[in-house]
Amino acid sequence: MTNVGVIGLGMMGMTHLDAYTRLASGGDVRVVAVADLDEARRTGKTQAGGNIEGQAKGGFDFGSVKQYADAAELIADDEIDLVDVCLPTPAHAKFAIQALEAGKHVLIEKPLARTAEQAQQIADAAGKAKGLAMCAMCMRFWPGWTWLKDAVDDQTYGKVRAATFRRVANHPGGAFYEDGDACGGGVLDLHIHDTDFVRHLFGTPDAVTSRGYSQITDKVDHVVTQYHYADVPLVVAEGGWAMSAGFGFKMQYTVNFERATAVFDIGSETPLMLYEPGKEAHAVKLPGGMGYEHEIAYFLDCIRDGTPPRRVTLEDAAASVRLVEDEVRSVESGKTVACRSK
Ligand SMILES: NC(=O)c1ccc[n+]([C@@H]2O[C@H](COP(=O)([O-])OP(=O)(O)OC[C@H]3O[C@@H](n4cnc5c(N)ncnc54)[C@H](O)[C@@H]3O)[C@@H](O)[C@H]2O)c1
Repeated sequence: MTNVGVIGLGMMGMTHLDAYTRLASGGDVRVVAVADLDEARRTGKTQAGGNIEGQAKGGFDFGSVKQYADAAELIADDEIDLVDVCLPTPAHAKFAIQALEAGKHVLIEKPLARTAEQAQQIADAAGKAKGLAMCAMCMRFWPGWTWLKDAVDDQTYGKVRAATFRRVANHPGGAFYEDGDACGGGVLDLHIHDTDFVRHLFGTPDAVTSRGYSQITDKVDHVVTQYHYADVPLVVAEGGWAMSAGFGFKMQYTVNFERATAVFDIGSETPLMLYEPGKEAHAVKLPGGMGYEHEIAYFLDCIRDGTPPRRVTLEDAAASVRLVEDEVRSVESGKTVACRSK
């Protein structure tokens, strides 16, 4: 049995509580404590919702768990094996490192940290720690995206000729997301999902060419990046939250292989369509659920088996923050930037 404490009960803390509630029926995990500075949130009186249908649905029984105001108190609780850090990004490093030093297993929401330097500090602390640690890079576990990773690795349809990703939304609102110093702008908070997935598929690029602008925060809120690789002709991602109110959320990719085109669209009834020469276009059958519960189930398996996570390492998560910083340097300089993380 893994006893979990969740710190930070905004949209992501609530999303993780959903996932633990579903996984608890397997009998191997239970939430024993939550922490939030906001009393209404830690008692469940007010509950944050999600931005994707089916996310953060609520229904968690707050009365059945310990409620801490102070994250440090939750970390010091001997009953807890796994500390789940769903705090605003600038607080990730402090509390993740504290939990690792206390001997806990630690799950940390993405982005791993506010800066690449802090992200590396977490990775270094995890390297010396007794517990296991993972960053919740949910796209690496998302149905339809794991399919793409397998198709690219196995060259099922030949090599990739072009891959384009798009993740755009209207701004979610709220103090954390309006403060560029805290959230890092749309480029760090939202677009990093695709930055990380591009690295997951193709490794760190040689260079990036990015264009973008600020709109809601004083950081880059909307970006288009071309990732330069010697062996993949075209890799592009657009991300940001500068769309007008009411636009909603779009999460899409189009990948051209030598012998097929794959199109993912989260808004479609058949999210993954495959087009192959000489065949009818067809929907690919995907497992249910979202990346959140799959990532948590995977990390719980790692903890049970005592094996460090391989599907996403802390070094990966830190390298993705570094790559986002390279993209920001390209936007700011107007130039193609060689990737530091290479
Ligand atoms: N994986 C994803 O798709 C995804 C989506 C949204 C957000 N996120 C990430 O999740 C993290 C949290 O985002 P959110 O939208 O849930 O934020 P949020 O601001 O809605 O919630 C954060 C909560 O943490 C609490 N808090 C802040 N400091 C605290 C402290 N020291 N001790 C205890 N509680 C404290 C706040 O009171 C708040 O309730 C961010 O890093 C964000 O980038 C990930």
